Amino acid sequence: MDAPLDPCTFIIFGSTGDLSRVKLMPALYHLDAAGKLPQQCRILATGRRPWDRERWLEESRAMLEDTARDGIDPAVLTRFEARQEYFRGDVSDPNMYEELAAFVAGRDDLPANLAIYLAIRPAEFGMVTENLGRAGLLDEEHGWSRVIIEKPFGYDMDSAHALQKRLRRFLDEEQIYRIDHYLGKEMVRNMLVFRFANLMLEPLWNRNFIDHVQITQAETLGVGTRAPYYDGAGALRDMIQSHLMQLLTLVAMEPPVSLAAEDLRDEKVKVLKSVRPITPRAVHSQAFRAQYGAGTVKGEKVRSYLEEEGVPGDSVTETYAALKLYVDNWRWRGVPFYLRTGKRMPESVSNIMIRFRQPPQQLFRGTQVANVERNWLVIGVQPCEILRLQLTSKQPGLEMKTRQVSLDAGFRTQEDSPTDAYEGLLMDIMEGDRSLFLRYDEVEYAWRIVDPVLSVWSVERDFIHTYGAGTWGPAESRRLFEKEIDDWRHSSDIP
Ligand code: BG6
Repeated sequence: MDAPLDPCTFIIFGSTGDLSRVKLMPALYHLDAAGKLPQQCRILATGRRPWDRERWLEESRAMLEDTARDGIDPAVLTRFEARQEYFRGDVSDPNMYEELAAFVAGRDDLPANLAIYLAIRPAEFGMVTENLGRAGLLDEEHGWSRVIIEKPFGYDMDSAHALQKRLRRFLDEEQIYRIDHYLGKEMVRNMLVFRFANLMLEPLWNRNFIDHVQITQAETLGVGTRAPYYDGAGALRDMIQSHLMQLLTLVAMEPPVSLAAEDLRDEKVKVLKSVRPITPRAVHSQAFRAQYGAGTVKGEKVRSYLEEEGVPGDSVTETYAALKLYVDNWRWRGVPFYLRTGKRMPESVSNIMIRFRQPPQQLFRGTQVANVERNWLVIGVQPCEILRLQLTSKQPGLEMKTRQVSLDAGFRTQEDSPTDAYEGLLMDIMEGDRSLFLRYDEVEYAWRIVDPVLSVWSVERDFIHTYGAGTWGPAESRRLFEKEIDDWRHSSDIP
């Protein structure tokens, strides 16, 4: 049986924002429904709005109406609402923090362990943390105090460093939980098990057998209402520097000494440190960017990025980015890792595709098998969670012909209940397990990889490739591939 979790108070800053609405409150509700929240666990929503508890509960109910997986269960809702409280306060008001501290201290029903979720603008992380610290809310005298922040952690390496300095004035590294929600996804969590619990993979998992690796995140959505953030960030910062780089580390890392947070993160950092730096001259051969034009996605006409609300008419912010990286170590030297992401693609899909090398001998020359296909291992992260090994097999019949077949390991059976990435991560926070949260050096080394590309792109402001919304991006992005025969693989289906 799992050890009981410490009772704690979740203090949510930005409780009416998107993150809270779409992810946090539903995740807490689902945890409560699954009986995973400690009995005394409380949720203290904070916000600027002049609401009382009743008004907040209306809002929280509305959030769940849109997101509860199996509808709202009245008994769970009653329990869940009994956990909630609202505190009115403006993060930019320095007096608010003292008042909040007094409020928390004055309420016996609020556990002293604090999980403080900053679901606010990243630009406010430093200031809010300093104020929390001054108000004593980060002291761990009466219980633990953990601060949870979401990417982006800085804007580039220098700003990440500056943010880190501010956070560290009042927090120990052990108190900082940097969320990359991709690490909470089931298939991503499964990567460690898949790689290190299956001995048969290990001899193949290296440069002798693997030709290249493709890591893709595509989505049909456009920038939506997020232009103010997104136009300043772009796809490389938004997706690659964080989520895709994390997937890369899980594919490429050595077996850690143990699954303890520091051991795991040590190995991930080693991968990032081994990535060959991209020199300014190599940016064009190792990086590609583009922006969506108007087009049709899933039968619906959509406008171009430049026509989206809040996007400046002359923006060259990329909504598609691709990188070719090399991990210069004994295992991976010479194996390209291709990472790409795009908005307004034909499908929403994330996967890791591993292409094996050609067999050394062309045994079938002179037969109808003109060219033996190379094997693929497909790791579908979403929506289809699958492990698929694509093999070549003889076609039944009198002639020597082959076809592609697959060994599929479906990840989820019908009995397995779905969970969202945030549910597992919130549990980890309560348990104090930081293994799936980023340590600062992971953030730093990831910035070190993308910074040279960002600086070249920031001065090349005259031109950006475009692609029609609903397409897989410009054909020119193929230029990243080392070999003429290689191309992006979009789907886990056998072509
Ligand atoms: C976020 C990015 O971190 O991840 C978004 O800021 C992106 O731009 C999202 O849409 C993708 O997450 P998921 O879980 O939908 O693949």
